[in-house]
Amino acid sequence: MSDTNSEARAASISGHWLLGHLPELGRSPLELYQRAHREGGDLVALRSVPGRHWFFAAHPDAVARVLQGNGANYGKPDFFTEPTSLLGGQGLLTAQGDPWLRQRRLAQPAFHRQRLEPLAAMMAQAAQQTADEWESVLARGESKVDVWPAMTRLTLRVASRALFSTDVSAQTARIARAVAAAFEVLNYRMTHRFSAPPLWLATARHRRLKRSITTLDEIVFGLIRERRRNSGPSDLLAMLMDAHDEDGSGMSDRQLRDEVMTLMIAGYETTASALSWAWLLLAKHPGKRAILHAELAQVLGGRAPSLEDLPRLPYTRQVLLESMRLFPPAWVLPRVALGDDSLLGCSIPRGAIVILSPFVTHRHPDFWERPEEFEPERFAPEHEAQRPRFAYFPFGGGARLCIGREFALMEAHIALATLAQRFHLGLLPGCKIELDPTFTLRPRVGQRNSLPMRLRAAITGDD
Ligand code: HEM
Repeated sequence: MSDTNSEARAASISGHWLLGHLPELGRSPLELYQRAHREGGDLVALRSVPGRHWFFAAHPDAVARVLQGNGANYGKPDFFTEPTSLLGGQGLLTAQGDPWLRQRRLAQPAFHRQRLEPLAAMMAQAAQQTADEWESVLARGESKVDVWPAMTRLTLRVASRALFSTDVSAQTARIARAVAAAFEVLNYRMTHRFSAPPLWLATARHRRLKRSITTLDEIVFGLIRERRRNSGPSDLLAMLMDAHDEDGSGMSDRQLRDEVMTLMIAGYETTASALSWAWLLLAKHPGKRAILHAELAQVLGGRAPSLEDLPRLPYTRQVLLESMRLFPPAWVLPRVALGDDSLLGCSIPRGAIVILSPFVTHRHPDFWERPEEFEPERFAPEHEAQRPRFAYFPFGGGARLCIGREFALMEAHIALATLAQRFHLGLLPGCKIELDPTFTLRPRVGQRNSLPMRLRAAITGDD
């Protein structure tokens, strides 16, 4: 696999005679990557801007080498770091090399499972709030909900409470609004990387971004200053503030601010996406929903889930893992080769862009039977052990594995258990849900990000 003397060449696929794959990269990158795998196989050379090599790699062995085996040779490209850093500064998502390593070491302890356990009750409470909203929809005699904004509201609530605790609950809505507004602009710049206007132009979008950043800076720096004066509750911010290097130094206010913003960016919409697609898949597969419902009824019997319940709800977790197989929220992981390398016997020159896509690899027919089918049972432990590690990587892998993995799984497990035992979400006739692969994989109806579904109360035994 890493034989640099090999003569093998990456496959190529048809493209525009002059512009190569650039138009498709701008217009519909996910479709291009799917086509690349279908027509070209496990490693495909795409044509983008002249002088820039661009590869798409679908095979788990190539993924393993890029993320883990030779992970130090692959950085994150500018077209990812530039928009992300507009809000997240030099936080964990964008930092590279030694600065990244130091920040990761400082932040890691805050995400250990034991540290996260006290958050379970808050997560259940936040899900309960969504349940209350849905109850009032039913009480008004209505039966339609838009699941996408409902899930983003829920995960933003969880993210801001976990980071800043309840002492700023009055600010939570303001933070959530500003993060969501800034995020839209990052998203736009990431998906229009060849056509977005320069940042110095005072377009309406750029003015919105500036306003949101000003609001967030004011709140977050204010909180940090306040906490430096009087210590507050033991939330994620407190843990980040307490973290120290061997030499005794901790994070500066600026670094704290960048990490806080990064955790918001990285954490809320990804988890909302995972939950949204799970609802859609369950609605399309009533047989699987019945299994889920039976597990929830047996273990919880109508009460709210606690941390101790989670290991006794394995099917609920399998539903989430399988949903993230078919619809991975982080659907693409772009990298740039820092030095020459070789993937699957083909040479990768320094400077080349290498694209990995969990969406494509998660449907690779050599590693997944009936890849297009929704079968949560694949994630039963006996089946999981039979697959190569990197046939499934919704949280990435290697040194840059998602730091919030346990957090996200706990949150989504609790949210799905709370809501699925009380509500059934069904498909609305004639409503076409499409994929919108932006920063995360969003659902879309027409031009809007939306997931309208039919809501009704779940009654045990009615599946
Ligand atoms: C279902 C939910 C989530 C998914 C699918 C997800 C996915 C990912 C993936 C694929 C990466 C690696 C990106 C790369 O290597 O290019 C990543 C990194 C990261 N994630 Fe998550 N994530 C989720 C939730 C969260 C949450 C809840 C948080 C924080 C509370 C979080 C914080 C981060 C951070 C800070 C990084 C950068 C880590 C580093 O490079 O050191 N994520 N995530």
